[in-house]
Amino acid sequence: MEKKFKRTLVTCALPYANGPVHIGHLAGVYVPADIYVRYLRLRGEDVLYVCGSDEHGVPITIKARQQGCSPQDIVDRYHKIIADSFKALGINFDVYGRTSSKVHEKNAAQFFRKLYDEGKFVTRESEQYYDPEAKTFLADRYIEGTCPRCGHEGAYGDQCEHCGSTLSPEELINPRSRLSGAEPIKKKTTHWYLPLQDYEQWLREWILDGHKEWRSTVYGQVKSWLDGGLQPRAVTRDLDWGVPVPVEGAEGKVLYVWFDAPIGYISNTMELLPDSWEKWWKSPDTRLVHFIGKDNIVFHCIVFPAMLKAYGDGFILPDNVPANEFLNLEGDKISTSRGWAVWAHEYVEDFPGKEDVLRYVLTANAPETKDNDFSWKEFQARNNSELVAIFGNFVNRAVVLTHKYFEGKVPAAGELTAADREVLEQIPELRASIERNIEGFRFREALKDAMSIARIGNKYISDSEPWKVAKTDMARTATILNVCLQLCADLAVAFEPFTPFACARLRKMLSIEKADWESLGSAEILPAGHKLSEPELLFSKIEDDAIQKQLDRLAAIRAEKEAAAKAAAAAQVAPQKEECTFDDFEKMDIRTATVLEAERVPKTDKLLKLTIDTGIDKRVIVSGIAEFYSPEDMLGKQICILANLKPRVIKGIESKGMILMAKQGDGKMRFITPQEVLVNGAEIG
Ligand code: 2FM
Ligand code: ZN
Repeated sequence: MEKKFKRTLVTCALPYANGPVHIGHLAGVYVPADIYVRYLRLRGEDVLYVCGSDEHGVPITIKARQQGCSPQDIVDRYHKIIADSFKALGINFDVYGRTSSKVHEKNAAQFFRKLYDEGKFVTRESEQYYDPEAKTFLADRYIEGTCPRCGHEGAYGDQCEHCGSTLSPEELINPRSRLSGAEPIKKKTTHWYLPLQDYEQWLREWILDGHKEWRSTVYGQVKSWLDGGLQPRAVTRDLDWGVPVPVEGAEGKVLYVWFDAPIGYISNTMELLPDSWEKWWKSPDTRLVHFIGKDNIVFHCIVFPAMLKAYGDGFILPDNVPANEFLNLEGDKISTSRGWAVWAHEYVEDFPGKEDVLRYVLTANAPETKDNDFSWKEFQARNNSELVAIFGNFVNRAVVLTHKYFEGKVPAAGELTAADREVLEQIPELRASIERNIEGFRFREALKDAMSIARIGNKYISDSEPWKVAKTDMARTATILNVCLQLCADLAVAFEPFTPFACARLRKMLSIEKADWESLGSAEILPAGHKLSEPELLFSKIEDDAIQKQLDRLAAIRAEKEAAAKAAAAAQVAPQKEECTFDDFEKMDIRTATVLEAERVPKTDKLLKLTIDTGIDKRVIVSGIAEFYSPEDMLGKQICILANLKPRVIKGIESKGMILMAKQGDGKMRFITPQEVLVNGAEIG
């Protein structure tokens, strides 16, 4: 923190209220933000922590239509689910607002209006897709058709969810409106655009020159956007769900969701602090930090800053935008539509009392510099062999032994040995490292540092064996347990940003009222004679069956996907070949034949040697079908052959003719058999 600010405003990307939040959201945005906020608060800093639901945008209207309810019903439902799951995970925003609120509607409209009045927008006429039956313009998502890349019939105008290709509506084969099924037509419409190119130079100076300390992934993305040249960006849409454009003649138009959502940060602050919100948004003494996922970088580093710059009036800009990369699940991209996710609200139901475990694992494995993977086995291992076996085990031994030998009172330390001092001296260093790492948004590293305290404590208590020493030397036992208890108190502070529920339990056990960052690493946090409370388990083991349940759920989804992919592949048909003449066809002598003998061609995987009765003769055909049929499968079968194909020698065997096989998208070859058994040699044509 080079510049000294008086306060910090932390915003978290407003989640879309069209579905619950999942571990990807948590790892990318909310857990790191929460660690940062808790840390700053522990240090006594003035922090405001703002989030809320993003309740506009086309996907919400589509979901409402699918479910036969209003968009408001959808956002009401998910706003509550999302807000509750944040709370359950200990993510306690100062305000969790909504962009469908009155305050926001007024604020976003006023924001637009000021830019409009000051001529900060340009208007452009363009041709957009229009549904002539539903009489409405269609967002790209509202258009459906066949994917030009994979042939999937339900591809959207912006993306094919089957093959993942980004599309434009023009590319869809057979496009139709998702509202009425009608073929969309192009119609002229006018929209307001923010001329981003006018802010390009300013953005270069502000970010590329002024914020070289930003994460290289964020800086790099900004640079490539700027190097690619900025274009005017539409800030309005033809849609009936959103903040109405506050201009006469703009009926049927709303603010584009990405224009109104970031203004939501300001509106939510206003809602909480109607009289003092400006202190947080317009004072150069405020540090603004946006926590987001990498897909939001352009909006938070280019578009929203350009909007604020255009607006003027003293709005501050972010001091940092620590965007994370993506988290995958069991090796596959998280997909809301496929259900390939671990939902926050389901996790808190499936693992009650284990909120910290998810926070811990998502931080230990946070996608800070690259995409990372969440696996249930790793989740279990980190709980059982780190939280339980190291952190929990150490604390438990220290507290239980203090009760056993010293009636639960912190024993006074005698003279410290070199080993005692070595242990205690490491803590201030680790504290400094945690500080540097959290302030530098390296939460994984900070967590490792905090865990080092537990590892040190666990090793110290194992090596010094107070349970054995107690048999002969109570004074030394007292010193060992004193050192251990000081480390426990350190852990209660150092882990507070990461595992707040466990730390509350630990503080209770140690009878500490409040975590105090300044105490971390001071050798005597707990004075001699300080009475501890009863021991309780900090963490408990996660058994295999709980993990298996989760894996089974995912396996079912994976099987469903594979079956769908197989069916889709099987349905693919090859394009028709070049035209041929009847004479071309007539040249081919196609006949029925029966397999008399069948055997594998030695030293090959694919070849069967078939002796067949063609009605004309008995002959041998070598066929590449061993992948699909065993010799037994073929024995006695009536097949169709091309009888007059020029003989070929394959693996030293003369093959006279070819079996007719049908091939479809799944790659399997199937032989053709007449509908009823015919004489061998029947002509086909
Ligand atoms: O990507 C998203 O989930 C968006 N709803 C984030 C919006 S952040 C902000 F600008 F409001
Ligand atoms: Zn596709």
